[in-house]
Amino acid sequence: MKPRLGFVDSEIEQIKKNNLYRKLRYGKTNGGIITIQGKKLVNVCSNDYLGIPPTSLKIKQMQSSSRLVSGNDESYLTLEKKLARHKSQQASLIYPTGYMANLGAISAIAKKGDLILSDELNHASIIEACKLTGAKISIYKHNDINDLSSKLNQHYKRKFVISEGIFSMDGDYANLKEIVEITEKKDAITILDDAHGDFVVGKDGKGTPDHFGVTKKIDLYVSSLSKGLGSFGGYVATQKNIIEFLINRSKSFIYTSALPSFLVEYSLKKLNSDREKQRKKLWKNIELLSSGLKQIGYDINSSTHIIPLIIGKEKTAIEFGKYLFKKGVYALPIRYPTVPKNKARIRISVTAWLTKNHIENALRVFELSAKKFGII
Ligand SMILES: Cc1ncc(COP(=O)(O)O)c(C=O)c1O
Repeated sequence: MKPRLGFVDSEIEQIKKNNLYRKLRYGKTNGGIITIQGKKLVNVCSNDYLGIPPTSLKIKQMQSSSRLVSGNDESYLTLEKKLARHKSQQASLIYPTGYMANLGAISAIAKKGDLILSDELNHASIIEACKLTGAKISIYKHNDINDLSSKLNQHYKRKFVISEGIFSMDGDYANLKEIVEITEKKDAITILDDAHGDFVVGKDGKGTPDHFGVTKKIDLYVSSLSKGLGSFGGYVATQKNIIEFLINRSKSFIYTSALPSFLVEYSLKKLNSDREKQRKKLWKNIELLSSGLKQIGYDINSSTHIIPLIIGKEKTAIEFGKYLFKKGVYALPIRYPTVPKNKARIRISVTAWLTKNHIENALRVFELSAKKFGII
């Protein structure tokens, strides 16, 4: 150990003291089951929401270059056209991940002298992207239209409003109708990160804006191919001239290697599969699990596939997670800084991979844990 790197140890100690320590676990996923250290657990923390059965991947040759050099496999063209149509936008652009799509798109279009209004519960990738812009960042209270509206009265050259469609740790919908109404009135630009709503809600899984009938009002979409669709990658969908601009200015697009084409082809296969069948299965599972949790006595406010069980103290959430693990259910404690301090929770995510049997088993465990932790 090099003494000059010892400062890290005291930081780790502090993280542990605050019950915020994270460690990696290694497992194997098979449908609705994950096996960790030989123990089979019902997996209720996967983001592969639609559970589209995988198809075989043909790995030919890695492009080993960025898309602006020789990494631009022609499969990108087909997928980007399809994603643009899926979002009812003129064009789309694929990034290696959703995180990089947020970083690259937001930091390219907002600048010093602009104002960004960002929901207080927005994802870390949005927060980091905003910091890169040099713009004034104003955080509005979660989903609070009055707060957003009054903050939009500030005078700036350009104003941006950024929200998630379905919030990743709370599972609630953004108040999108009101958000687009107020942003339009105040001539602001709307950016929507629909990583968790995409492919899951709205007609044909078109996402959260379709659910609210405001698809055309969103100026720029950011989304992930690694969640609802169960593939890998991120993308932006918007007007043609913005995509043209991003190709020229977006650093996390330009200065990185292209997502391998076999993953682009994999996304195409998943996009062309019977997604409706999977969506129906998913929504049946959501209904089964959330009504079961309510019956047990949990206070469930979410009406989507992301169901947080709010615990409060970080230490209790860790113990809760350990208990679930012991009893055969895999759902992890989510703590600060992912969620605010003292709002630790078990984040349940429902997928179409789960069978009725899996859900009934999980509910039996959630009933035991509710009794053990004094929730009922
Ligand atoms: C709201 C939101 N945006 C973006 C991302 C990043 O997406 P990806 O996993 O494709 O990097 C996530 C991932 O957790 C997310 O929850």
